[in-house]
Amino acid sequence: MTQLPTACIIGAGSSGITGAKVLQERGVPFDVYEKSDRVGGNWVFGNRNGMSSSYRTLHINTSRERMEYSDYPMPKSFPDFPHHTHIAKYFNDYVDRFGVRDRIRFETGVARAHRRDDGVWEVALEGGETRTYDAVLVANGHHWDPRWPEPAFPGEFNGRQMHSHHYTDPEELRGKRVVILGMGNSAMDIAVDASYVSDAVYLAARRGAHIIPKYISGKPIDQPWLQGKLGARLADPRIPYSIRRRLLEKAVEKQVGRMEDYGLPTPDHRLGQAHPTVSGRILDRIVHGTITPKPNIAELGGDRVTFTDGSVVEADLIVYCTGYKITFPFFDEGFISAPDNDLPLFRRVFHPEVDGVFFLSLLQPLGATMPIAEAQSHWVADHLKGEYALPPREDMRKDMEAERRKMFDRYLASKRHTMQVDFDDYLYELRRERRRGGDRARAQGYRLPIPGRAGPPATATAADSAVAA
Ligand SMILES: Cc1cc2nc3c(=O)[nH]c(=O)nc-3n(C[C@H](O)[C@H](O)[C@H](O)COP(=O)(O)OP(=O)(O)OC[C@H]3O[C@@H](n4cnc5c(N)ncnc54)[C@H](O)[C@@H]3O)c2cc1C
Ligand SMILES: NC(=O)c1ccc[n+]([C@@H]2O[C@H](COP(=O)([O-])OP(=O)(O)OC[C@H]3O[C@@H](n4cnc5c(N)ncnc54)[C@H](OP(=O)(O)O)[C@@H]3O)[C@@H](O)[C@H]2O)c1
Repeated sequence: MTQLPTACIIGAGSSGITGAKVLQERGVPFDVYEKSDRVGGNWVFGNRNGMSSSYRTLHINTSRERMEYSDYPMPKSFPDFPHHTHIAKYFNDYVDRFGVRDRIRFETGVARAHRRDDGVWEVALEGGETRTYDAVLVANGHHWDPRWPEPAFPGEFNGRQMHSHHYTDPEELRGKRVVILGMGNSAMDIAVDASYVSDAVYLAARRGAHIIPKYISGKPIDQPWLQGKLGARLADPRIPYSIRRRLLEKAVEKQVGRMEDYGLPTPDHRLGQAHPTVSGRILDRIVHGTITPKPNIAELGGDRVTFTDGSVVEADLIVYCTGYKITFPFFDEGFISAPDNDLPLFRRVFHPEVDGVFFLSLLQPLGATMPIAEAQSHWVADHLKGEYALPPREDMRKDMEAERRKMFDRYLASKRHTMQVDFDDYLYELRRERRRGGDRARAQGYRLPIPGRAGPPATATAADSAVAA
């Protein structure tokens, strides 16, 4: 009999809870630590962890069927693009449905995770306790640490400046002259909110974006109906990407037209070369004259904002919708960090140099993160049980280099494009890699790559048994 490795999951957002569900189902002993008093992370509006970027009006922009876990459909009573309250409830119900709530230690943040020379992880909790584990699954999210413009715009501004992370309610925008910077999804939603209550709304951007509607011909754009209708499977990774992109471009062009027809800047890239900006409402609000597009901010001065085209507006508030930093406050920076949002990983899960650490949803998919975190969790479980063996390190490095080259060639150079994946392609490749690694594991006699030395978890149940490897 060999003891399976014991795992620690950091975070009980949508990634950590599916990690917990999968490890429980697969018989891998584990604990989950969660800073907040509840699950759901970003989707808990006003989350007491202070890390949620949700605002009162937030709805998902990946459709319900794209976002749901494989074995837990969202209720059909939910709309196609549910409100954050629906989504938070769905995650809360998920942990009860799969009986993992007792495995989560709430209001218990991980302060430090340190890998000893013998490979065992020391996990120091915010309360002062330290526990040991053989493996760490990182699920702390990457949309909570605001990235402000770097460098800051020159000049002094007398009004208020805030980051979209801190925006919670349209009342904050009421009666104000607002400049919103960015062309991502935060900028779209906040500009639309402002367009109903603010005195003036300026949407400033350093480059244009292809704004994709949530619906095409009355159906969610990310669902397979479109693929059939276009006579090809947009989601089929075996069809060359260039063909799939052209099909999507045609569908969007037909529905939306050109961005410059709305007074927006012409995108300097093709659809699919930037993280998708999805909004069913922004173009409507622009053509109603409630939002004025502007180029980038050039400088600030008193109550004035000057743009790069020389135009000047008076403003009370600037909302910087300039994205997020990837941070792991519990790792020593020199050990694991993501400078400029870049942390190269093997297929976005395995660290190439550090054994026993795995990342869930540390990627930006064209599609939802939840089914990806679920599939990644199964992959990690395979590994922890000796059912998946990694390729040799040299092959991993080559694979990572090829993947990164492809991504950087395709996407605009930006700190938001450091870990982009296509949803269907990623899952397809993950299934193939699991099979390949399964063959390698069989050839190695299903040896455990990480020996179980750390002892049982704090929330151990009868299900956490010693398993013959
Ligand atoms: C406004 C907004 C809208 C979005 N909309 C969509 C969408 O429509 N579809 C989509 O797929 N994605 C969307 N995203 C992306 C979003 O990241 C995912 O939906 C999802 O929240 C990722 O889940 P997660 O569990 O990885 O991270 P999070 O939801 O951020 O959860 C992380 C959890 O880890 C906990 N934690 C962090 N640090 C520690 C620590 N040291 N110790 C213990 N616990 C810790 C936190 O308390 C939190 O509960 C959106 C993001 C934003 C900001
Ligand atoms: N409804 C929803 O479901 C919803 C709502 C909000 C957010 N989200 C998700 O949350 C994540 C974060 O989205 P986000 O919109 O907050 O951030 P984001 O996608 O990173 O977009 C940041 C935007 O700010 C611009 N920018 C960054 N630095 C700048 C600078 N110094 N000067 C001018 N412009 C600058 C970027 O331009 P470049 O492209 O040139 O870098 C980009 O347009 C995404 O995954 C998004 O899909 C979803």
